[in-house]
Amino acid sequence: MKVRKVIITVAGRGTRFLPLTRSQPKEMLPLINKPLIQYAVEEAIGSGIEQIILITALGKHAIEDYFDRSLELEHVLEQKGKTKLLQEMRELSSLVNICYIRQKEQLGLGHAILTAREIIGDEPFAVILPDDIIDSPTPVLRQMIAIYEHYRTNVIAVEPVNHQDTVKYGIIEPEEISPRLYRVLSLVEKPRPSQAPSNLGVVGRYILMPEIFDALTATPPGKIGEIQLTDALQLLLGQQTINAYEFEGKRYDTGNPLGWLKANVAFGLKEPGIREELKKYLAQLE
Ligand code: UTP
Repeated sequence: MKVRKVIITVAGRGTRFLPLTRSQPKEMLPLINKPLIQYAVEEAIGSGIEQIILITALGKHAIEDYFDRSLELEHVLEQKGKTKLLQEMRELSSLVNICYIRQKEQLGLGHAILTAREIIGDEPFAVILPDDIIDSPTPVLRQMIAIYEHYRTNVIAVEPVNHQDTVKYGIIEPEEISPRLYRVLSLVEKPRPSQAPSNLGVVGRYILMPEIFDALTATPPGKIGEIQLTDALQLLLGQQTINAYEFEGKRYDTGNPLGWLKANVAFGLKEPGIREELKKYLAQLE
């Protein structure tokens, strides 16, 4: 069965970005001139996804407004004769079919995914965590869907992480299938470097079989009452194969201020109208 739907989770509190996130969703922060969330939506569309399910929460309405149509803005642009911009704004609001689910309590990523169970139904689906922006010629989700179509099983995205950083990631115990592709033997959440079974850390892209919902339902909440996706994946491993794919592309963790800043510098250095000035500016900082 084809992967037609994606869940994009934006219901988290974004504590690493406080105080900004007291009243602003971090997903609306700009990467050059587009909000972070738009990169996730464009990746989904570029990967052939037909329906986007955004899991939102209180205080995130700016995201819904952003993808909505603004007749008033279109009218102003029309009057000012800004036809190119007008066209762009119309295209933005008709990007793809987006529906919204509110996660009423922040009970973790696993719980957020579970709220979409009925809309997903009995088919494989994708998940994008929009903090992880991945710059790649082929959208990472598209790369993963190709793997899914070959093996017809769960696929999670991994990348090699620094030895001392294993404490920040879910780390897989891998068995190599082919270059860049592994079968997951086990998953360890945030191990100390000495206990990590590899240096392959899980990042925010998944293709999941619908059986994950039963696994999520059977997953007991962790320390702070959150249902963790990693725990459910561990359960799923008992009955299904999970493959891990080392994607091609450069990932930026824009969920914290330093990572966000790095992404903006890197994207700025690729942007024709910004590149030269930015290079000069950076060079004279030292
Ligand atoms: P994070 O663990 O990065 O949490 O969530 P966060 O709230 O976004 O940010 P910090 O750590 O407090 O700074 C990983 C993903 O899971 C979603 C987040 O929106 C993010 O996409 N999430 C997390 C939910 O949708 N609901 C939750 O209850 C928790």
